[in-house]
Amino acid sequence: MPAPTFLIIGATGTQGSSVVSALLQNAGASPIQILAVTRNPSSTKAKSLAASDPRVKLLNGDPSSPEALFQSAAMQVDGVFCVTVHGPPGAEEKQAQSLVDASLAHGVQHFVFTSADRGGDVLSETNPTPVAHIASKHRIEAYIQQKTAGTALRWTFLRPVTFMDNLTPDFPGKGFAAMWRQVGSKPIQLVAARDIGYFGAVALLRPEKYAGRKIGIAGDELNFEQACSVFRETMGVEMPTTFCAVGSVLKMAMKDIGAMFTWFETAGYGVNIAAARRENPNLQDFATWLKESSGFRDMRKN
Ligand SMILES: NC(=O)c1ccc[n+]([C@@H]2O[C@H](COP(=O)([O-])OP(=O)(O)OC[C@H]3O[C@@H](n4cnc5c(N)ncnc54)[C@H](OP(=O)(O)O)[C@@H]3O)[C@@H](O)[C@H]2O)c1
Repeated sequence: MPAPTFLIIGATGTQGSSVVSALLQNAGASPIQILAVTRNPSSTKAKSLAASDPRVKLLNGDPSSPEALFQSAAMQVDGVFCVTVHGPPGAEEKQAQSLVDASLAHGVQHFVFTSADRGGDVLSETNPTPVAHIASKHRIEAYIQQKTAGTALRWTFLRPVTFMDNLTPDFPGKGFAAMWRQVGSKPIQLVAARDIGYFGAVALLRPEKYAGRKIGIAGDELNFEQACSVFRETMGVEMPTTFCAVGSVLKMAMKDIGAMFTWFETAGYGVNIAAARRENPNLQDFATWLKESSGFRDMRKN
């Protein structure tokens, strides 16, 4: 039997690269092939992905033209990991829908879509939220369920929350922290991209266990003040942020992100973190992510 082949959209990005790493870690001795989709195979990220393991092959192409991707893959694809990137209204839906359609046409067996939590398992079914890029994912989930009904294509939805990985030592990371501060005392649920990668990988590797499931993924829940305390205790310095006014400007400039932080103030995510941790006991909390996966280092160590 040929090795199961997985086509990973966004393989050079935050979630896709985590899925590739987790596939390599979790496949063990089982043979697998990973087709890592990129629009630019000569980028540093693409090159390091290709060099990471002989099981990874770059697939040069644009996710918005999935038919061309399947043509250039020139082999049977068993599982697809789908991430969508923000764009004008309808752009995310178009990316995912054309990939679902092409997957059906090419006999793919399992479609893993990384969506977003919308207030917990129950509320996520009916609540698109007032946040455009989260509402898009609600519509994509509906499309996938409707389009694949009665077909051999099974699906798994991952529903992550805000990425811890948004907190970086540079200006965008400080801007993220400033917007977080403006949410006030209400905690935000957070997840390490590494852990989205874990669920994406095990879903692809074990469709018999994961197909048909909608999996909320979060590893911690903290308000800004609590996050500052964890950061101080873990890293030995204050969590980098910037003026509150910068947070306000960013929320105005990036209207959809602004709407999301406003949604956090009154509603927000509702993942059952204990349930997620039962499935993956290695799920990182904020302190663990800071120590093991972040771009920060403990200033008390040489
Ligand atoms: N950040 C958060 O806290 C958070 C939380 C929940 C959900 N999400 C969702 O996560 C999704 C983004 O995932 P991500 O952060 O993993 O993505 P990403 O890292 O921003 O991008 C993934 C890859 O897609 C390709 N890409 C970038 N822009 C593109 C474009 N305009 N057209 C086609 N390809 C493009 C790039 O690869 P190449 O250049 O190599 O082609 C990039 O490496 C969004 O839908 C967002 O709503 C984010």
